[in-house]
Amino acid sequence: MYDVVIIGAGPGGYLAALEAGKQGLKTALIEEKKLGGTCLNVGCIPTKLFLGATEPIEEIKSLTRIRLGKGHFDLSVSALLKRKKNLISATQKAIAQTLKKFNIDIFQDKGIFENKTTLKLQKQNISLSFKNAIIATGTSERVIPGLEFDGNLILSSSQILELENIPPALAIIGSGPIGLELGQYFSRLGSKIILIEALDRPAPLEDPDISKEIFKHLKKEKWELYFKSKVKKITIKDKKVFIHLENKIIEADKCLVAIGRLPNTKNIGLENIDIATNKGFIPVDNYLKASKNIFAIGDVNGKAMLAHAAADQGEYVIRLIANKENSPYFPKTIPSCIYGFPEVISVGKKELDLKGQEYNITKVPLISNPIAQAHGLGNGFIKVIWQKKQVVGISAVGFRVSHLITLATIIVNQKWTKAQVREHIFAHPTLDESLKEALLQ
Ligand code: NAI
Repeated sequence: MYDVVIIGAGPGGYLAALEAGKQGLKTALIEEKKLGGTCLNVGCIPTKLFLGATEPIEEIKSLTRIRLGKGHFDLSVSALLKRKKNLISATQKAIAQTLKKFNIDIFQDKGIFENKTTLKLQKQNISLSFKNAIIATGTSERVIPGLEFDGNLILSSSQILELENIPPALAIIGSGPIGLELGQYFSRLGSKIILIEALDRPAPLEDPDISKEIFKHLKKEKWELYFKSKVKKITIKDKKVFIHLENKIIEADKCLVAIGRLPNTKNIGLENIDIATNKGFIPVDNYLKASKNIFAIGDVNGKAMLAHAAADQGEYVIRLIANKENSPYFPKTIPSCIYGFPEVISVGKKELDLKGQEYNITKVPLISNPIAQAHGLGNGFIKVIWQKKQVVGISAVGFRVSHLITLATIIVNQKWTKAQVREHIFAHPTLDESLKEALLQ
């Protein structure tokens, strides 16, 4: 009998397993595909690797723009793809070794609930009995009729990561974090990007001022932009893709469809444990419980589709099971970042959330920040939202603003006042100085 069985070995599942091992719980981790889940195999890690490898192209361009010189960085895409493969498999090995060190049983199989205390492993045809279970099955790319991936010309965000030949014209449907990050990688390598978004701005879930800043940058990079444009269907003719909008047909060499992700909750036996989904997601209470002894963490509970949120939720649930924790999980501040240039961060409340409430805003541009200036990339700003003279939200857009995210999270979590800001020395020269300036404005 396992103390805990965990289905899904993404950052939520494998970090929960690791924590369970550290707590001395008898633990099984079940993964049908690969250790590391979406984040390691086809998400955060490869996309950051791609953006890191092409960052010199962006930098050379900006230094050329301020007439400091000129140059060229010729990236070998095949070397990058090889490096991606090696890095991912090295990380998988390291995860497996660490889990084994803590006596976690890893099963490569599909887990299906038989009832509230047993789980069947489909391939091996064995049953595991458990006291507690954690569902950490994540999400998969959303597919809608008329926009199905063919793996060749119409690609999902996983499939496009294998592309060795850079398409001259790449159409991207969806301007969320995936569309924007992958678009920048291909743009830096010379693709003409055609971005199509149903809503009225890029990164529509972010502060509208942030979208404006991203819009300016995409225009400068000569992306062809279509907002308020819903794609009706995609057709293929003579190895070209045709994207049908309301009043226009757009031609491209490849098309990336990045229109969100849907939970992996089908065929895991939820009907056998009396769990009903809501739009496919597993509803949970404030303790992340879907039922008495079954928890759902990460993307699959629909609370936040971010790897670090999943990891934090997994560790919390294990502490709860091990009786090291008894307070509810929510509310919790979840920071988020979009990478590339400009980077975007957001933590705590946004202006959009505060309609009808009283709040103040302080905001500084990054133009005079010495670090941003040093790289010739001074666009963007930091914005702080205050309620009752306390910080309740911070967002920023610009060069390397992701470096501010943990400090910003601490400030929002602790609801700093201006007096608290003055208690700390902010090092010079750093991006943090602009955050201080925004806080003390
Ligand atoms: P998303 O939901 O953030 O964005 C998808 C966009 O597609 C939306 O703006 C939507 O309006 C648009 N759209 C939907 N249907 C459309 C249609 N038929 N025609 C045109 N536009 C359409 O989804 P995305 O970018 O796929 O990301 C999925 C999840 O992964 C998100 O929850 C995101 O937070 C997470 N993620 C986070 C990252 C980060 O924090 N750096 C990086 C990558 C993913």
